[in-house]
Amino acid sequence: MEKVKKSHFRTADGSPTLYMEQFDEYYHSKHGAIQEAMHVYLGMGLNYWLSLHPTAKTCHVFEMGFGTGLNAFLTAKAAEQANIQVCYHAIEAYPLSVEEMDEVNYFSFLAEKENDLYRQIHASSWEQEIEITTHFRLKKMKTLLADFDPKQKMDVVYYDAFGKRAQPEVWTDDCFPALTKAMNSGGVFVTYAAIGSVRRTLLSLGLETGLVTGPPGKREMIRGLKPLL
Ligand SMILES: C[S@@+](CC[C@H](N)C(=O)[O-])C[C@H]1O[C@@H](n2cnc3c(N)ncnc32)[C@H](O)[C@@H]1O
Repeated sequence: MEKVKKSHFRTADGSPTLYMEQFDEYYHSKHGAIQEAMHVYLGMGLNYWLSLHPTAKTCHVFEMGFGTGLNAFLTAKAAEQANIQVCYHAIEAYPLSVEEMDEVNYFSFLAEKENDLYRQIHASSWEQEIEITTHFRLKKMKTLLADFDPKQKMDVVYYDAFGKRAQPEVWTDDCFPALTKAMNSGGVFVTYAAIGSVRRTLLSLGLETGLVTGPPGKREMIRGLKPLL
């Protein structure tokens, strides 16, 4: 994966993403990277969890597939807006290089203040939990999902793997038990995908799972809820 050539692509909402020609795969929806992230992970994920836990002061978010850090960045901004403390743990098997981040060019897309936040998210050390803002702590872990042993409980899971066509191994039944076990009751699992076998696996692992409205360009996506005890 490290040697796969990636090129810059501007998505329909104007926000950039990376494209991998060899897999014919994008890091985000070409219908709009920011729109997709806002809908799938913030709207259906974090904000939905907040609506179920309106008095919560802290939230533990876990992301599978840190990638460009866009979801982390948008979550850091949302944490400040909602005035909650977010502790964000993310795994990434193939971290992007500085050159690749320059290529995707989020830095020129964002306003100056946002740029600082985004740069801090990228510059933060791996394998350590770091305070990025007063509302957002981040721990980036370089590991394959298959080798990951969650040590921290999760309130919201962002499952942002590449598509099944490009990477079937991150959508098999054995990808999900450790993550769902680590979820707190009342926790929310979201992914942009609407794969039937994944929905059935999450159901079999005890999540109330259904299809909800997808982001622009996608009719449906999966959301699961770990029932309250
Ligand atoms: C769709 S992209 C994620 C986009 C990202 N969330 C963002 O906001 O830019 C999928 C990510 O999963 C990573 N990945 C692929 N296989 C993985 C694996 N087995 N374990 C962990 N990460 C993996 C890829 O390197 C890529 O960065």
